[in-house]
Amino acid sequence: MKISEKLVVLVTGGAMGLGLATVELLVSLRARVCCVDLDEKALQTVADRFPEVMCLKCDVSVEKDVKATVERCVAHFGELHALVNSAGINIPSMFLTSKTALDTKALHKMFEVNLFGTLYFCKYAAV
Ligand SMILES: NC(=O)c1ccc[n+]([C@@H]2O[C@H](COP(=O)([O-])OP(=O)(O)OC[C@H]3O[C@@H](n4cnc5c(N)ncnc54)[C@H](O)[C@@H]3O)[C@@H](O)[C@H]2O)c1
Repeated sequence: MKISEKLVVLVTGGAMGLGLATVELLVSLRARVCCVDLDEKALQTVADRFPEVMCLKCDVSVEKDVKATVERCVAHFGELHALVNSAGINIPSMFLTSKTALDTKALHKMFEVNLFGTLYFCKYAAV
């Protein structure tokens, strides 16, 4: 895929880590970027650094919020070409050890964010 100013990319988890590195690269290649994250403070830092980036707060595990976020992105840019699902959590306590029982509540949370968050964005970005 050729990355240029014609491309509109939505990056989830774009305020930190791998997502932020992706946002930085896309901006340097002049793509139009929508940065989505749950962390308002980190999102504000992105907005301050890159005023041209559309920054939206969204919990990827809440389907109706994902739908509204994709709709806002498309309304703003008029189109959406690519999606980078980088929002995610890692809960080390979910792993079963000889000393702890499996933390199924943490496991549910991880699946809601990492799996369903990704699926929701794929669902609404595809239509
Ligand atoms: N960094 C690595 O080397 C690596 C390797 C393998 C897998 N991963 C996985 O990839 C994902 C991203 O890794 P990272 O290092 O960039 O993590 P990170 O913690 O640096 O960044 C994750 C971003 O996702 C956001 N986020 C978390 N939950 C969210 C939610 N419900 N809605 C919206 N945004 C949310 C956070 O606010 C944060 O900005 C994680 O799931 C991680 O476990 C990372």
